[in-house]
Amino acid sequence: MKLTNFIDGNWQEIGEVEYTAVLNPANGEQLAEVRMSTKDDVDLAVAAAVNAQKKWALVPAPKRADYLYEIGRLMKEKKEHLAQVLTKEMGKVIEEGRGEVQEGIDMAYYMAGEGRRLFGETTPSELADKFAMSVRAPIGVVGLITPWNFPVAIATWKSFPAIVAGNTFIWKPATETPMMAYEMAKIFDEAGLPAGVANIVFGSGSEVGTALIEHQDVKVISFTGSTETGRKVAELGGRHLKKVSLEMGGKNAVIVMEDADLSLAVEGILWSAFGTAGQRCTACSRVIVHKDVKKDLEKMLLEQMENLTIGDGLDESVKIGPVINKQALEKIHSYTKVGQEEGAKLLVGGNVLNEGDLEKGYYYAPTLFTDVTPTMRIAQEEIFGPVVSLIEVSSLEEAIEVNNGVKFGLSSSIFSNDVNKIFRAQRDLDTGIVYVNAGTTGAEIHLPFGGTKGTGNGHRDSGVAALDVYTEWKSIYVDFSGKLQRAQIDTE
Ligand code: UN1
Repeated sequence: MKLTNFIDGNWQEIGEVEYTAVLNPANGEQLAEVRMSTKDDVDLAVAAAVNAQKKWALVPAPKRADYLYEIGRLMKEKKEHLAQVLTKEMGKVIEEGRGEVQEGIDMAYYMAGEGRRLFGETTPSELADKFAMSVRAPIGVVGLITPWNFPVAIATWKSFPAIVAGNTFIWKPATETPMMAYEMAKIFDEAGLPAGVANIVFGSGSEVGTALIEHQDVKVISFTGSTETGRKVAELGGRHLKKVSLEMGGKNAVIVMEDADLSLAVEGILWSAFGTAGQRCTACSRVIVHKDVKKDLEKMLLEQMENLTIGDGLDESVKIGPVINKQALEKIHSYTKVGQEEGAKLLVGGNVLNEGDLEKGYYYAPTLFTDVTPTMRIAQEEIFGPVVSLIEVSSLEEAIEVNNGVKFGLSSSIFSNDVNKIFRAQRDLDTGIVYVNAGTTGAEIHLPFGGTKGTGNGHRDSGVAALDVYTEWKSIYVDFSGKLQRAQIDTE
């Protein structure tokens, strides 16, 4: 199968370009070939989006929302198929694949509801016989650059608020996971979304991403990916005065206090550290544990880690799938060496798995380091794999300091049964998302998603907050006094 761009409601390509193989990370099989588009493809897509946007902005918002209801319905109808495609191209286990598709369905219905809200404000004027209000106005054409770890959910967090607010978009999915974008294009088409509202251009960040950011008709760029790339996106976007929304790395921690329910904490840690093979922005990669329960927690984690079955995510009994590709495997493995050289104690894992059925895929053993100190590289840098570092502390204050002592700030969690500790922690943890008695993953779509410090640049995906990315505030004053009234002057 050859994946071509979806532009102006058609499967379009111009000129001869290269195609890249899309591989199943579970077994290395080729699933499809994807177009590596050029700037010309981007220009074509932007022209279509500009053209469509003028009409789209004039469609009443509840009517725009009707398309989202239909998209949500189609996603629901095809949920199992979409989940299977997702697991094949990305590797996450099928149960998580279904969960991710559900996240997209939830987003469709939630943002469709916004079609009948999109609230602005009315407020009194300081002058007599004058009316004041603010409304959300669409911005125009937006560019969406999405990662491979959540090939559909993250795209829905960005594209659905964009379209309900009256924008049109060009979506560049990650080269590793274009098949979900292709599936979504078919759904946009089947839902009858007017041509040019949704456009998909496949290709590399350096070619397609750059062309999108540099295009003068693309007013907003929303990016999820690494901090390194995000910085480049912001720099280039800044030069072109773009509104840039960034969602980047994390180094998320679970704090386990001495009064915690340890069995629950173990379940939370395993799910958020090893789910999606540790390849979530929200994945737990540090466990900050009170010294009184450190030994017990280590023992319980080791016992439970033995039950983590590893293999092809399509097998319902498998708990952990492959990582995305060979480079990822090598990067993860390099951190095991770093940890050992730094003096951390490797309790389990730390090796590539390539025996038997795992031979052709990219698998890494769930890995647990202990006696990690907060400043070691394995406790500071994003590894994006199934690797956890245990750090011992003596108090809640120290736990919070360690949690906050990294350059990222996406998600954090505390296990405790002491209400005072819990409330102090939720106030003082410097992350965009805080969990109490749950792991670091599990964000729901109707709340803002994003983080502080190196994780973001102040914007949020998801929730009503996402609308701030895709709308401009317009303040409207209507004077019905029939005379000139000067603000700040004619107020007496
Ligand atoms: C991501 O890892 O980039 O909270 C998104 C979670 C998911 C979304 C993660 N709902 O882990």
